[in-house]
Amino acid sequence: MSDTAPRTDEIVPDPSIPLPPYSLRMGGKHFKKDADFVAAGVRDVKMLRQRAGLGRRKRVLDWGCGAGRLAIGIKHLIGHVEDYHGVDIQPELLTWAKDNLTDEHTRFTLVDAHNARYNPDGTPSFEIPADDASVDVLYAYSVFSHMLTHDLAGYGATIARILAPGGRAWVTAFVEEDVPDCVENPSDYLKLEWSGALHCVRYDRRFFEATLWDAGLAVDEFVYGRETDGQSMYVLRRR
Ligand SMILES: C[S@@+](CC[C@H](N)C(=O)[O-])C[C@H]1O[C@@H](n2cnc3c(N)ncnc32)[C@H](O)[C@@H]1O
Repeated sequence: MSDTAPRTDEIVPDPSIPLPPYSLRMGGKHFKKDADFVAAGVRDVKMLRQRAGLGRRKRVLDWGCGAGRLAIGIKHLIGHVEDYHGVDIQPELLTWAKDNLTDEHTRFTLVDAHNARYNPDGTPSFEIPADDASVDVLYAYSVFSHMLTHDLAGYGATIARILAPGGRAWVTAFVEEDVPDCVENPSDYLKLEWSGALHCVRYDRRFFEATLWDAGLAVDEFVYGRETDGQSMYVLRRR
């Protein structure tokens, strides 16, 4: 994530809920102020309630959870869900979250999956540690925005497998109409400087949706360009 964060309401952080140090906040430049970090999590909890059926009895899989921004939002807004499971491939972030945010409804798992940007020495895999049909709400903020086609298809199939009947996946991605299928760090795109492996992966909208369809996922809702840096938002379900 970089320059343009979505607007969030003002919020006063609850001092009893730990916050990660600035260095562990993904999208850090938006989150120098604690209140902004907490507000971004709270905002996404509200979004998941409205668009993906999130509630206190739901099982949530936060795929690419970083240091637990969504978990912190859940603790502030609704206290807990039935099961919040955060999964990431960066040990420092995941360890902080596990050590500071774990409780009877909140858990974290480190996966050693390869990603050229975040875990270049990891093992190629499409693993998301969850049983088949066990996830009511899967949340993946700025995760497909750092993945090429192979991972989009592979992880798409994993998400289709682990979503419960009636479950929804809420994901963000860079998608545009009538562009090449998949481009890593497109130049002159969204007025930002993309550099380094997988900083911005932009998809053609039809290609993105067709790849997910082939993986077993259908689009329930699409909102163009309102998420961080101009990403779009999808609500997906098993087809
Ligand atoms: C831009 S950050 C967003 C973090 C968090 N979702 C948020 O919005 O605050 C992308 C996250 O996805 C994680 N990630 C990338 N590939 C992954 C994979 N294969 N499995 C799990 N997490 C992954 C990265 O380690 C990183 O924490």
